[in-house]
Amino acid sequence: MKFTLKPTDITEIESDALVFFGSDTTLPNLIKGPVPLAKILKRAVEREEFKGEFSKTLVISAPAESPSYKFIIVGLGKEDEFDYFKLQETVGHAIAACRQIKARKITISIMEDWMKKFGAATAVQAVVEAVILSSYQFHKFKSSPPSETGMIEEVILSVTPSRLSSAEEGVRIGQIFAEATIFARDLVNDPPRLTTPTYLAKVAELIAKSSKDEIKVKILDQKEIETLGMNAFLGVSRGSDEPPKFIRLHFKPRNPKKKVVIAGKGITFDTGGLSLKDSKNMETMKLDMAGAAAVLSVFQVISKLKINYEVVGLIAACENMPSGKALKPGDILQALNGKTIEVLNTDAEGRLTLSDVLSYAADKEKADEIIDLATLTGACVVALGEDIAGLWGSNDKLLQKIEECAKSAGEKLWRMPLESDYKELIKSHIADVKNIGGKWGGAITASLFLHEFVGNTPWIHIDIAGPAYTEKNTPLSPIGGTGYGTRLLLRYLISG
Ligand code: BES
Ligand code: ZN
Ligand code: ZN
Repeated sequence: MKFTLKPTDITEIESDALVFFGSDTTLPNLIKGPVPLAKILKRAVEREEFKGEFSKTLVISAPAESPSYKFIIVGLGKEDEFDYFKLQETVGHAIAACRQIKARKITISIMEDWMKKFGAATAVQAVVEAVILSSYQFHKFKSSPPSETGMIEEVILSVTPSRLSSAEEGVRIGQIFAEATIFARDLVNDPPRLTTPTYLAKVAELIAKSSKDEIKVKILDQKEIETLGMNAFLGVSRGSDEPPKFIRLHFKPRNPKKKVVIAGKGITFDTGGLSLKDSKNMETMKLDMAGAAAVLSVFQVISKLKINYEVVGLIAACENMPSGKALKPGDILQALNGKTIEVLNTDAEGRLTLSDVLSYAADKEKADEIIDLATLTGACVVALGEDIAGLWGSNDKLLQKIEECAKSAGEKLWRMPLESDYKELIKSHIADVKNIGGKWGGAITASLFLHEFVGNTPWIHIDIAGPAYTEKNTPLSPIGGTGYGTRLLLRYLISG
């Protein structure tokens, strides 16, 4: 998809569809404007009783003398409710309308109001990301791709001339962020027979190879993982015929400000193990490496961005399978930091693999901070629904920073408590901790469990079990992996 910035009058740009936006307050001005097309818009808006309602679109045939074939107006809703998420969703709706009419070349009029509200580069970045992400399709396993909707090939963004250079930066960053997000989506959407631990390790090696030495990779195999003493990770992997891989990616700029570890849960398929999931709950469990996909996607683009942190990506990749060799409820595992874990449910496997990854990040990497992304608990989806990730952490300043970055990355999350009173619930009578809590607060007890392994290192945990995967088509993502976490991590990393 090609993006071009044009500071010219939109009525002179030739394209298949010219897209405008109007909110409850800006729509009346738009149709009153001096431009000749204001009249046409006014008539359509009145005939269709369009009031700029959020996500509503109006497709209007343009007059013969217009260089655009169609005009599309998309409602922004109430001005005072408008935010970054709404901006991207609205663009998603606009793209759906453009594809419906099989437009190939479109013009989007970027509103001056958005540039004022979010900054010119950020507003343009948001639009570019939304255009690319809402156009994403995963059709490689279809024998013939569906033909009901068209594909957009060229996007002209019209901006006021004074905004041109910031807008250029927005286009560049937006394309990189979207490219990375799509990379993560593809990894989640590919079938689990393909995306094995060995495959993820190969992907990491390829990323390093194509980075011209800016990224280093280290893959530890089963023997090396044993020697290191990651026994909790090995316990989970034990039931599978696929060998586990411990993946470490490393990026170090000159004079880094600090060392950040990003860790992603990398269960390439979660059957639950001997605590087997039922078939309905197992259907989507290829998604259980979405955290790992986000980490890999960051490294896929990291050398194209200006990042002042040393960044280490860690993934303990394995399958969670039942078999004669599988981990059993009642087993006790010793993690890398020496703590012992009583396993009472083999389906709570993510926290087991992560216990070793977090110990490694704190003790071996001596990270300044750790951020983990994990499709960790169904309980988090119960608490926050499918769209919002749960956020926990041990450091208030870092939590605040992540919240800010999420808002301007278009990724929804909500801060949750690391309630120390609930630590009682993960105490084991036979080992240091057990891998399940009580009946309630499952996402909190899972976070408290992880906290046991980070020592004093400032740490952030994001439970992405809800937003990593969508079971319905949404404005920015079709059914499947969403690439959640990629834009948040990238936003955080470039902000330092
Ligand atoms: N991978 C799942 C969590 C999950 C559930 C992700 C739904 C995405 C959608 C995780 O390994 C799991 O099975 N967790 C259990 C923990 C329980 C046994 C304490 C859960 O949430 O049911
Ligand atoms: Zn599980
Ligand atoms: Zn899992």
